[in-house]
Amino acid sequence: MANNKRIYSGKAKDIYETDQAGVLLMVYKNQATAGNGAKKEEIAGKGVLNQAITNKIFTYLAQNGIPTHLIKDLGQGQELVKQLTMFPLEVVCRNYAAGSLVKRLGVEKGSPIKGGMVEYFYKRDDLNDPFVNEANIYFLEAANPEQLKVINDLTLAVNQLLIQLFHKAGLRLVDFKLEFGETADGEIVLADEFSPDNARLWDEKTLASFDKDIFRNDQGNIIPFYQEVLNRLVEVLG
Ligand code: ADP
Ligand code: TMP
Repeated sequence: MANNKRIYSGKAKDIYETDQAGVLLMVYKNQATAGNGAKKEEIAGKGVLNQAITNKIFTYLAQNGIPTHLIKDLGQGQELVKQLTMFPLEVVCRNYAAGSLVKRLGVEKGSPIKGGMVEYFYKRDDLNDPFVNEANIYFLEAANPEQLKVINDLTLAVNQLLIQLFHKAGLRLVDFKLEFGETADGEIVLADEFSPDNARLWDEKTLASFDKDIFRNDQGNIIPFYQEVLNRLVEVLG
């Protein structure tokens, strides 16, 4: 990594060039942020856990027909991924009402959402990632209708696969955020990460949070909970 040039430093990951064209090295950070960076903390062990969880999930999704950017798990919070042109969208899918949906629609936290609900947020930190509808997305040229249909269909397919997977792990998949990108030959691929930083996972029995809401709500150290998510995934997936 010492010889690799860092080309991006985000809130949760650093990205480096590699010797291979079209291949990026992603390094997960220990930094935790909430409220678009308003709350910020270093949490030892978070990067390694989030990369390990993402690796388990992306490998499982790839085995079940979802194209992903993952090329190689390097361990230690690092992985090689395909370099993509990213769609500037945070694609959120919800199975139960929580977070911003509860605030926006005034519904009760935990209300079930049959079939899953896909929402889009425009990835613009300076605007606090605003909610956007399809017309907004076409106006912004963030994706065209054909691309958005593929993104929507892939998101719902990921949702079905992960509802089942987390159910086997005794966890309720409440909601999550995905990001997608496009390869040079126009294939739309799942990118970024899937971790308890960008999903809500509730214990099926106690409904306790095993995700970043613990950090957002100042409810203690997230690490034992993220470790438990990984342990349960390892139990289910091997
Ligand atoms: P943020 O940019 O929101 O602070 P991160 O710290 O997680 O988030 O940074 C990772 C960045 O890398 C994100 O902006 C994401 O859109 C981008 N990204 C994820 N996967 C890929 C990929 N395969 N190719 C290029 N960019 C990617
Ligand atoms: P929300 O309730 O804040 O809209 O978030 C819904 C889910 O998506 C939650 O699991 C957090 C995740 N998410 C992100 O990780 N990043 C984002 O920018 C957004 C909008 C949501």
